[in-house]
Amino acid sequence: MPERRPFVRLPTDVYPVNYGLRLKPDLVDFTFEGKLEAAVEVTQGTNQIVMNCADIDIITASFVPDGGEEINATGFNYQNEDEKVTLCFPSTLQKGSGSLKIDFVGELNDKMKGFYRSKYSSSGEVRYAAVTQFEATDARRAFPCWDEPAIKATFDITLIVPKDRVALSNMNVVDRKPYAEDQSLVEVKFATTPIMSTYLVAFVIGEYDFVESQSSDGVTVRVYTPVGKAEQGKFALEVATKTLPFYKDYFSVPYPLPKIDLIAIADFAAGAMENWGLVTYRETALLIDPKNSCASSRQWVALVVGHELAHQWFGNLVTMEWWTHLWLNEGFASWIEYLCVDHCFPEYDIWTQFVSADYTRALDLDALDNSHPIEVDVGHPSEVDEIFDAISYSKGASVIRMLHNYIGDEDFRKGMNAYLLKFQHKNASTEDLWECLEQASGKPIAAVMNSWTKQMGFPIIVVDQEQHGSDRVLKISQKKFCASGPRNDEDCPNWMVPISICTSEDPSCTKTKILLDQPETTVNITNVAPDHWIKINPGTVGFYRIQYSSAMLESLLPGIRDLTLLPVDRLGLQNDLFSLARAGMISTVEVLKVMEAFVNEPNYTVWSDLSCNLGVLSSLLSHTDFHEDIQEFIRDLFTPIGMKLGWDSRTGEGHLDALLRGLVLGKLGKAGHKATLEEARRRFREHVEGKQILSADLRSPVYLTVLKHGDSTTLDTMLKLHKQADMQEEKNRIERVLGAIPAPDLIQRVLNFALSEEVRPQDTVSVIGGVAGSSKQGRKAAWKFVKDNWEELHNRYQGGFLISRLIKLTVDGFAIDKMAAEVKSFFESHHAPAAERTVQQCCENILLNAAWLKRDADDIHQYLLQRKTPPV
Ligand code: BES
Ligand code: ZN
Repeated sequence: MPERRPFVRLPTDVYPVNYGLRLKPDLVDFTFEGKLEAAVEVTQGTNQIVMNCADIDIITASFVPDGGEEINATGFNYQNEDEKVTLCFPSTLQKGSGSLKIDFVGELNDKMKGFYRSKYSSSGEVRYAAVTQFEATDARRAFPCWDEPAIKATFDITLIVPKDRVALSNMNVVDRKPYAEDQSLVEVKFATTPIMSTYLVAFVIGEYDFVESQSSDGVTVRVYTPVGKAEQGKFALEVATKTLPFYKDYFSVPYPLPKIDLIAIADFAAGAMENWGLVTYRETALLIDPKNSCASSRQWVALVVGHELAHQWFGNLVTMEWWTHLWLNEGFASWIEYLCVDHCFPEYDIWTQFVSADYTRALDLDALDNSHPIEVDVGHPSEVDEIFDAISYSKGASVIRMLHNYIGDEDFRKGMNAYLLKFQHKNASTEDLWECLEQASGKPIAAVMNSWTKQMGFPIIVVDQEQHGSDRVLKISQKKFCASGPRNDEDCPNWMVPISICTSEDPSCTKTKILLDQPETTVNITNVAPDHWIKINPGTVGFYRIQYSSAMLESLLPGIRDLTLLPVDRLGLQNDLFSLARAGMISTVEVLKVMEAFVNEPNYTVWSDLSCNLGVLSSLLSHTDFHEDIQEFIRDLFTPIGMKLGWDSRTGEGHLDALLRGLVLGKLGKAGHKATLEEARRRFREHVEGKQILSADLRSPVYLTVLKHGDSTTLDTMLKLHKQADMQEEKNRIERVLGAIPAPDLIQRVLNFALSEEVRPQDTVSVIGGVAGSSKQGRKAAWKFVKDNWEELHNRYQGGFLISRLIKLTVDGFAIDKMAAEVKSFFESHHAPAAERTVQQCCENILLNAAWLKRDADDIHQYLLQRKTPPV
């Protein structure tokens, strides 16, 4: 491995005040010309200026001191590795103000970063838009700049574009005039931005339609869609116009720009990007068609819009001082997006979904030895890319949720408001936020939170009880939770753990609260009848797992069957037990028995989490010869709810019923439930023949079912549907399930399809991932495919976070020791800097899977056999 030179931030002897930037993209040759005229401040005499710059050719550069003579730069020294350039001047630039002028050219690349081209077709013709994605460190690919979040400046942007194209940037247009040198072009000038970080600058040049509205606080909101699809922007427009006043009220700070545009970009690596005033989205994160979009897409759009708009304050107005504090941006936005969606769509019961989507995901990752603290030192761009992960997002959001609960909404808002006012148009660090919240609440916020953000991992809370008369005495202790099971660590870390406790008398109400700041403690709870149960962590808010004594656990389990435990607590309990089983702390058979207690479960999210864990177990058992027995278990568990729901929605049903039906039918179909398979095939046939089009919510489960039990004709039909699909949502829906096809030669066809022109580059990952996640054969084939096509894949994503996602989806499911060694050795010779930690995490997971299989497979097999034979 090459030794990394220590990373150094830019010198501060010259810094920008304003960027005057003119860009002229060529949508045919895929190049652009740029002119920068930056007002800079020289704080110390120097004869060189160091800036960030990558994949750009500087033609000329000069410096004009205010009221002085122009000095031409005599050399441009590119430090490609560091993505920097040093402009050398023949004489000293004196302390004071001046203007830095640089002419440069670059390429509109196809890597979905920097200033890049995005492909679309219009009336059968292939065309390109020019768009930007600068976070984290790619503004330097569009213009030479001081590309660090704390070096803020104002921007005056001018775009020179074909006159029939839409040109957008962060601010509103202030002038539009013909371009003197070419009649077919216009010069579009945008208003000066507020002082801001480079990673939030954006421009888009292309063909789009839009829908427009005003939010109640007077901001013009537009949603830009592909031509002819303006209707599909209406849902996001409604969410955005509701969300802006919600945040204005929550933060007590108005949105500071006159307009905000939300735009769907065809080729887009992330889900969405919060550029100030011009938020870019994948098409599937913004566009909703009333007929052809399913409930989960609607929910996704609402969450993403809520997330990116939150950044307009938290991130854009107040920005992290350095990428070490990225989690503050992403963790906070990933928390408040739920608050916002809960406000706009209470019927989504979105907070319960948070627990399944973010909280448990974060706990799983953070239990690994190869996790990392939320706050982590980063320098080189590849290290920055690496931390856009579930720790920054989901653990970040989870500890903020815990903190919000610990502080209470009123003081939390007070502190947030103080923070935003104090640091608006500036930069802040994690400590700054703690200080404001500490002031507002009078609680020891920094001390509590440092234990969660500066050390990795989380505790398992071990609880036992004794009844003393009418009192219940709890013994509570904490130790680090490790995915591989308990260890006897000498210097075991401690957390400051806010713990709330409830009893069966009122499962939704906290009876006692403590702050556990030592290894163990005793808590006395008065007036608890001996037959009442005690539950730790009601609402599943605290970021920890719980290990109850067997008596306490026994008393809680009936609360699953009779639904007296809250949905979120039924979910949390099941999820804790599942992860304890994986860590070898209880037997997997015990968890299977608990799962059987969920037969009467009505709640979508509880089912969804259970289903996900059963998916993990099913994937593990695909390494055995009794895989079919766990399918039978799944069928038996899901049949009653499937029968109850049926195939067709009834009047009065809502969002969650639609989600639940899709989940259950998909699960039954995949597990080979006969009646479901037959009905899925019948409905699929009618759909394909155009007799009865499948409702959007039934498409995924039906496609999955017919493919899982399908042949080459099924695959052909699906690929045809894919080709015909006009909406990216439908294409993605199909792409994600293609991997379910069982025959090896067809699996190969799906893999080749993943890299074909038919699949957008950002979606290739989910096609390959779908193959790997579907079967034992698929897993092997996908891994081989990734190895065989490594160069192309790596080149396509240039490091980036998509490569990490691809690796995880492809290898995480292996359960044989030697595969961990194989994966490790492959990535030793095929370097992916931004995925280093992911590779280590995957290898750790493979070993954990293998250990789990060795430990529990026989018992699971016995249990699955025994439950089939009726007792005599
Ligand atoms: N700031 C990110 C976009 C981003 C992600 C930039 C990765 C660079 C690298 C944006 O705010 C974001 O978090 N987007 C999420 C969607 C969100 C709803 C979780 C994404 O892209 O997945
Ligand atoms: Zn974000």
